[in-house]
Amino acid sequence: MISRRQFIKYLSYSFIVTKLNPVLADNKKIIKYNIIAKKSKFSFYKNFYANLLLYNNVNPGPQLNANVGDVLKIEFTNNLDEPTSIHWHGIKNINKMDGVPYLTQDPIQPGETFSYEFPVNHSGTYWYHAHFESWQQVARGLYGPLIIKDKIDDNFDDDIVILADDWRLNKNYQIDKKSFGSLRDWSHAGRIGNWFTINGEKSPEYKISKNGLTRLRFINASNARVLKFRSSLNSNKIIAVDGIIVKPFKEETFTVGPGQRIDMLIDTVNISKVDYFEISNKNPLKAFSLKVKKANTKNREFTKINFSPNYNLPKLNKAKTINIHMQGGAMGNLTKAKIDGVEKDFRALAMEDKKLWAFNKEIGNYEKLLSSVKKNDVVILNVWNDTRWSHSMHLHGHHFFVNSKEFTNYNNYLLRDTYLIQPNEKSKLIFLADNPGKWLFHCHMLEHAASGMVNYIKVT
Ligand code: C2O
Ligand code: CU
Repeated sequence: MISRRQFIKYLSYSFIVTKLNPVLADNKKIIKYNIIAKKSKFSFYKNFYANLLLYNNVNPGPQLNANVGDVLKIEFTNNLDEPTSIHWHGIKNINKMDGVPYLTQDPIQPGETFSYEFPVNHSGTYWYHAHFESWQQVARGLYGPLIIKDKIDDNFDDDIVILADDWRLNKNYQIDKKSFGSLRDWSHAGRIGNWFTINGEKSPEYKISKNGLTRLRFINASNARVLKFRSSLNSNKIIAVDGIIVKPFKEETFTVGPGQRIDMLIDTVNISKVDYFEISNKNPLKAFSLKVKKANTKNREFTKINFSPNYNLPKLNKAKTINIHMQGGAMGNLTKAKIDGVEKDFRALAMEDKKLWAFNKEIGNYEKLLSSVKKNDVVILNVWNDTRWSHSMHLHGHHFFVNSKEFTNYNNYLLRDTYLIQPNEKSKLIFLADNPGKWLFHCHMLEHAASGMVNYIKVT
């Protein structure tokens, strides 16, 4: 017999689900997690304890796992002294669960609990992070990996998340809080750090299986640093970008912009050790290493795995084009822009409003509409990066096709949720707007988003 409480719980659950998403069948498996955000101590170095903001007291936040088709139910409690919210980066979410304060939910106040509940209908490497003043909350540690598995994952012996972050610490190994909000950072490349970690550690080592296949899931959780990796292998086999399986291709080095993910596959036959280096700086840093140790009995074969992506570029003949002229920042050509309907010159915007970036000569924010489209419209975001800086452009609620110029050995469309666009580059981000709601489009260099490089697109 089920108790009255369980029954009520069941009722309220099915009520929420039918209200949010009628296609959700009753037989979905519900994966539950509890997450608490609070002030926590963490040692980056010896016995210096930094004051961070963490989920469940761990850095990075707990790895959330589900299988494709499951429903994730996360009971989130805000035990910080400030409001917050969680965004599930890359998940084609129900709009109400997308975690954008003011746009899709009220900020979650200190002491409040919010229940995030949504189905996960596509597999891959994702992550979750604070979306309230993310320029300071993410910088202080509010993020974690979110991994959705499917049948393809049965082929791998080892599966390791490589969550990278670029922290800015002061000489006491504390978060450098004085520089939060620095106009120089906000108008240049964003908050670039001085302490690099993989899963919270300096140069960790992971054990992997002999004669096996290891899937590495790189996530760049940095506020602003574009990471670049090289390994002691002469090529890196990329099998997924932003969660989506691709036809595998090899790169000697690869970049991961803020918010982006890249999955790599390593065949450990004839390998005993692999070192990975982060080479965005003049001095390469040893990022982490893999040591072949564990015995494996299975003898996997890469060639037997089906990596064929199951998506096609939508037909463009009826596509709706949205032009996005990105301007601003240091050494840029933005002389004036509108803020809340009032035109101001660049200097006044910088000094009075701390706004530095614009789409189509208008300063953006979370509640600024870029354009409305109809459900199932094919949309082309025609983006022109007319600034001196690269930008990691992220669309919520959808993946988009982009003829990516980010790789050397892949010259075709990729399906991404975050695209690193170079200075002066013009790029078309193409998506089928099949997910109704209000979806942010913003730079994932979090200081750029905070100072104007953010709008939303409405799908009705
Ligand atoms: Cu990963 Cu709007 O963010
Ligand atoms: Cu940017």
